[in-house]
Amino acid sequence: MFAGGERIGQVITPGDLLAGKPPVMVYPIDPSSRVVRDGSRLNQILLVRLPPDELDEDTRARSADGVVAYSGVCTHAGCDVTLWQAETRRFRCPCHDSEFDPRERGRVVGGPAPRRLPRLPVKVVDGVIVADGSFMSRPGFQPG
Ligand code: FES
Repeated sequence: MFAGGERIGQVITPGDLLAGKPPVMVYPIDPSSRVVRDGSRLNQILLVRLPPDELDEDTRARSADGVVAYSGVCTHAGCDVTLWQAETRRFRCPCHDSEFDPRERGRVVGGPAPRRLPRLPVKVVDGVIVADGSFMSRPGFQPG
């Protein structure tokens, strides 16, 4: 569901994510209990739709029609990754300007972040975006 903005609390659908639009920050909902998993910032997820042919093979394999999902928490010092560079299609952290490429498995392409933004494999089931497993690396950061 949307983690903020005008539609906070509403379930997001693939149709809400348009190519060329900025990412959306969401929280997951447990599919069986319907409980919103918003008790930890580490559950924040960035969803963005990109042209599938721009994704590297591994990223595309874990995306759904170009929709990719990443942790919304910076791997440098844990700020929310809230900025989007539309021209270069990169996530940017507002705290120290780390940049991550969502087309290449969340690779660090600038700034002090020590590791990729963790990926969450996704698929679409019955018109809903669902996680297809866990984060592929540990979300969050290592305090120094
Ligand atoms: S916390 Fe994101 S760049 Fe420092």
